[in-house]
Amino acid sequence: MRVMLTGGAGYIGSHTAAALAARGHQVVIFDNFANAERDVPARLERLTGQKMPVIEADIRDVPAVVAALREYPVDAVIHFAALKAVGESEADPLLYYDMNIIGTIRLLQAMQQAGVARIVFSSSATVYGQPDSSPILEDFPTRVENIYGRTKLVMEDLIRDLARTGKLAAAANLRYFNPVGAHPSALIGETPRGVPNNLMPYVTQVATGARPHLNVFGNDYATPDGTGVRDYIHVVDLAEAHALALEHIVANNVSITVNLGTGEGTSVLQLVQAFETATGRKIPLVIAPRRPGDVSSYYANPALAEATFGWRAKLNVEDMCRDSWRWQASRAGINDV
Ligand code: NAD
Ligand code: WQD
Repeated sequence: MRVMLTGGAGYIGSHTAAALAARGHQVVIFDNFANAERDVPARLERLTGQKMPVIEADIRDVPAVVAALREYPVDAVIHFAALKAVGESEADPLLYYDMNIIGTIRLLQAMQQAGVARIVFSSSATVYGQPDSSPILEDFPTRVENIYGRTKLVMEDLIRDLARTGKLAAAANLRYFNPVGAHPSALIGETPRGVPNNLMPYVTQVATGARPHLNVFGNDYATPDGTGVRDYIHVVDLAEAHALALEHIVANNVSITVNLGTGEGTSVLQLVQAFETATGRKIPLVIAPRRPGDVSSYYANPALAEATFGWRAKLNVEDMCRDSWRWQASRAGINDV
């Protein structure tokens, strides 16, 4: 198939581009490079051998999207392009409504004009808010706890409504848990702007010496060691899930909403321990107050993904730590990996 990836130069998009190419699909990258390095497509060509056409434009520019879809007729779109920082969303709701919700509506309008009726969408476990329990199933109540989560839920609903009314032939809403890691080649990976909000990139920056220590946001949660528990999923596993989900919905013209996680919960201290074991690097810790909005524990029940399109995560937390470190070390010019 030929597939257009909005946000395809980004962290998860670039890894999905690599996974699709490995399965013989043709990839078209549509990205405004607001949060991506410009040489990602070149690095993808080195990694995959596939020269992927790149359209540098904004998903809210309907004529640009229509022109791209007419120049490169595709079987489906995978929609990664969005803003994703919870804190930023609370500080600037209209920016997130515009970029994420209006952006998705404009993309769907352009797809309809160009006759493209299949989409895979990057949703997030954030739509579950503070869950009553884990593991989390797809029919658990969705709860909006922040603006970012609201945009994800609205985007999901738009897509489900268009599928229900026959305006989309096939759709997959993929609810990612906590993506971490990098491709083992260290050619692509996560490039957070400024101080990383997320745990793994912060840990890797401590490991390079760029940060003096890790602040552990609370050790008084009702979890085995008191620190927050999450379902970390290797971005390579996540990318493979996109390829399998896409092939499934296109082959069967169906619409699905699926969790993508490992089903394993890992605490902050357990992740730090795994990182130190995998890399030999020590991570100094400071116990800090809880971060507002954090939940104590959530992890997925990944059974539906396996039952629907035969996917389950293969890589473990040490693989995630080792590949994260290899990527960060290569960026920092450290070659002890
Ligand atoms: P990312 O910022 O690395 O990638 C997003 C890409 O979209 C970037 O390349 C950026 O330049 C591009 N982009 C942003 N706005 C655009 C616009 N208006 N027009 C065109 N391109 C635009 O983020 P990511 O971590 O790869 O996340 C991809 C998707 O997955 C997002 O929708 C995000 O909400 C979702 N998600 C991410 C996580 C996570 O922890 N990384 C978890 C759950 C869901
Ligand atoms: C993980 C754990 C922290 C940093 C976020 C978004 C979510 C999704 C994934 C987009 C928590 C602890 C963290 C640090 C720490 N993104 N932590 N010190 O908050 O589960 O999810 O990213 O969809 O929407 O909310 O991930 O990596 O920020 O935190 O102790 O410096 O690590 O308290 O327990 P989170 P995270």
